[in-house]
Amino acid sequence: MAFAVEINDLKKQFKDSYQPALDGLTLRVNEKQVIGLLGPNGAGKTTTINILCGLVTADSGEAKIFDRDCGKEQNYLRNIIGVVPQRIALFSHLTAWENFKYIGRLYGLHENTISERAQKLLERLGLEKHAHKRVGTFSGGMKRRANIIASLLHHPRLIILDEPTAGVDVQSRAMILEFLSEYKEHGKTILYTSHLMEEAEQLCDEVVIVDEGKFVVSGTPTDLVKNTANCNKLEDVFLHYTGHTLRD
Ligand SMILES: Nc1ncnc2c1ncn2[C@@H]1O[C@H](COP(=O)(O)OP(=O)(O)O)[C@@H](O)[C@H]1O
Ligand SMILES: [Mg+2]
Repeated sequence: MAFAVEINDLKKQFKDSYQPALDGLTLRVNEKQVIGLLGPNGAGKTTTINILCGLVTADSGEAKIFDRDCGKEQNYLRNIIGVVPQRIALFSHLTAWENFKYIGRLYGLHENTISERAQKLLERLGLEKHAHKRVGTFSGGMKRRANIIASLLHHPRLIILDEPTAGVDVQSRAMILEFLSEYKEHGKTILYTSHLMEEAEQLCDEVVIVDEGKFVVSGTPTDLVKNTANCNKLEDVFLHYTGHTLRD
């Protein structure tokens, strides 16, 4: 079986940066799981996601989604992956519904299909009463939930979320986490980044810790805690491997 995500020796040096964003990153993500990509600020998580989505080109190495090269096969992959970026990617002057119609059409979906799917997701994510309000008027949590809906309209097999619970209220966060667990039950794969270890420990089947553009360790949260000396929770494991130095 192909991996959902397979990254081999990926390197990326931005021109105006003094250190590489990715320095030979290698990792594997199994299908039909929730995987947490964890790492301190500047570890290379967003760069990795941008390469997977075809937004950034790697200098060298390999990034594949279901065995398809991310640099070369974005037209194919676009229909298979759904992306929720760190910064909300919706038109703030349009209503949620207008955004969904626009994005759905970009994916070549039929009007009725878009309406049906959007309606279901709006209800599931508690936004049905706000469908016809402008996104610019939404709270952070509402924008994030709306962005998740937009990324799922084409029923992707892999959903990639960059810090989906950062800056959202507690209730939105709980709903998003519950929703992601449920989404996995439909045979989907979820790759998400977070710096909330307690959350990752609850949600993830497996976590991958990266630092300074390199793979550090991976495993189930339970195994990692068990196999790392003097650790009682995932946060201890994270600090054990990434140290206590601040990364501002
Ligand atoms: N467009 C860019 N131009 C220059 N440097 C960048 C750019 N994007 C990321 N970087 C640098 O690459 C490193 C990794 O960044 P990033 O992938 O955003 O990390 P993370 O998401 O784990 O916080 C950081 O040192 C960051 O400053
Ligand atoms: Mg980031």
